[in-house]
Amino acid sequence: MKHKIIVTGGCGYIGSHTVVELIENNYEVVILDDLSNSSEETLGRIEKITKVKPTFINIDLKNVAETLQVFNKHKDAKAVINFAALKAVGESVQKPLMYYKNNLYSLLNTLSAQLENGINGFIFSSSATVYGTPETLPITEENETQRPFSAYGNTKKIAEEILDDFIKSNNAFSAISLRYFNPIGAHESGLIGELPSGIPNNLMPYITQTAVGIREKLMVYGNDYPTKDGTPIRDYIHVVDLAKAHVLAVERIIKKEQDQPLEVFNLGTGNGFSVLDVINSFEEVSNLKLNYEITDRRSGDVPQLYAATDLAKEKLGWTANKSLNEMISSSWKWEQKLRNNK
Ligand code: NAD
Ligand code: UFG
Repeated sequence: MKHKIIVTGGCGYIGSHTVVELIENNYEVVILDDLSNSSEETLGRIEKITKVKPTFINIDLKNVAETLQVFNKHKDAKAVINFAALKAVGESVQKPLMYYKNNLYSLLNTLSAQLENGINGFIFSSSATVYGTPETLPITEENETQRPFSAYGNTKKIAEEILDDFIKSNNAFSAISLRYFNPIGAHESGLIGELPSGIPNNLMPYITQTAVGIREKLMVYGNDYPTKDGTPIRDYIHVVDLAKAHVLAVERIIKKEQDQPLEVFNLGTGNGFSVLDVINSFEEVSNLKLNYEITDRRSGDVPQLYAATDLAKEKLGWTANKSLNEMISSSWKWEQKLRNNK
């Protein structure tokens, strides 16, 4: 029997890759998305890859009544994977209330609708941003969380606290919070990938958009950090590796394998790469010279973040497999296909 999984934000970047992995692992998927940062076209692309068109419901999860109505219809679902959120760090500093409303109302409505319908499994998209500026590296799940710099980041920290309180009040409920490091890359088909709206905030789409000529040059935010080449270090992780971890998390919940009702796992490779490493790798993979310039630091950036990955390996049986060059070449393939409209 196929288990049904509700995927909020399933038309988005990480959601669409996860939907593909779920379908390929024989799950039935229901996507809830308001398309505020994605396109319905993604559904056809998922179908092209998997030969299955997932059920799609266009819904804004901030709407209490509609959320409840949809969950009533799908009360046979085994779990929810909650990707739906706004994620632009800079915008969240300008419009904090919009971020708190969107990310937290939709979380609260989803949990309430689950409670009402006895859907007791939940997987949350968290972020390494909850660690703030870590004092020790690599970052383990035991590292203290800190108030993140941005309102966006704070929605992740608050959401984890909400989950913790909710779980203590409901012993049928179980949840896994996955703290992503820096997801990049795209599906090998080149059919799905990241679609940033407007000017990208993140390094990888900025690089590929510069290389295709949409952006004039990449600004490298600072080369005076205490790192090997002065540029900040991050743990870049291939989105397909990340997607696979969600399938394992779903399995862990369904099979009731959890050690505690709320578990937290880092999802990274454990390897740190600097901004200049990423640029060099891009130039190697694409055979192009990237136009870039060193400029001032961006406020809120931390010098180094990379994950300890032992817990996810031990408990989920998950490790990231793909190299930095594979991540970057898949991002590049996606960008080129996008621009050639194929
Ligand atoms: P994305 O913007 O591509 O996907 C999010 C999806 O949620 C979009 O399709 C959007 O339309 C939908 N959505 C937003 N608000 C909604 C609402 N109120 N109702 C219904 N749908 C709504 O983002 P992504 O990169 O795929 O990120 C997925 C999740 O992972 C987010 O929660 C994000 O905060 C988290 N995350 C992302 C990163 C990253 O670098 N991409 C890092 C850490 C955590
Ligand atoms: N960078 C540049 N130029 C750019 C964009 C980025 O030099 O145009 C640098 C940044 O200074 C940083 C590195 O590239 O050193 C990575 O920056 P990203 O914006 O790609 O990623 P961040 O690590 O800043 O943020 C990501 C996610 C957030 C999440 C955070 C958690 O985008 O959602 O990781 O660590 F909160």
